[in-house]
Amino acid sequence: MMISFQPIIRACRETDIKLLEKYFSGDEENHRARLDRQKKGLSIYLIALIDSRPVGHLDIRWQGCKNEKVKNFVGECPELSAIAVRPNFRSKGIGTNLVKSAEKIVANERFEQVGIGVGIENERAKKLYERLGTRYLYRRLD
Ligand SMILES: CC(C)(COP(=O)(O)OP(=O)(O)OC[C@H]1O[C@@H](n2cnc3c(N)ncnc32)[C@H](O)[C@@H]1OP(=O)(O)O)[C@@H](O)C(=O)NCCC(=O)NCCS
Repeated sequence: MMISFQPIIRACRETDIKLLEKYFSGDEENHRARLDRQKKGLSIYLIALIDSRPVGHLDIRWQGCKNEKVKNFVGECPELSAIAVRPNFRSKGIGTNLVKSAEKIVANERFEQVGIGVGIENERAKKLYERLGTRYLYRRLD
């Protein structure tokens, strides 16, 4: 049986940081850094909430990939990064929902493409992006 979860997806706020640090341990220092970049207009840190608790996040970086070789190859476009869903909430459509929400925001800003970096061995994430129509443009080895 398919049970769909309809999280609220919105930009991160100052008051979300404590809960993000609690529920996404191992990534504690990054939530604050992403919110700081959002405040500077460099990104939008989207979070997915169920029952007012964060279950997923995704960072839209307007300046694109930090790697110059990738940037030169794919051209100017924002990058979706830091995509994660808490283990207990996976396979419920939340990752898909986060990526689609981000794509809408990017399209509203008149960008025609968006980049996503994915590890070669990350089968789960690759499957998700392929299902959403991602094309592979650049293979980076570092
Ligand atoms: C990759 C990741 C973000 C995917 O998030 P997710 O919420 O599980 O993604 P979705 O639920 O949208 O899609 C995953 C699968 O669930 C299935 N699914 C979606 N909605 C569903 C539902 N309502 N019921 C059952 N299955 C469902 C999808 O068909 C998909 O199946 P597939 O793997 O066969 O394609 C998550 O696995 C994760 O956080 N991984 C660790 C961090 C990571 O690797 N991030 C990516 C870095 S590039």
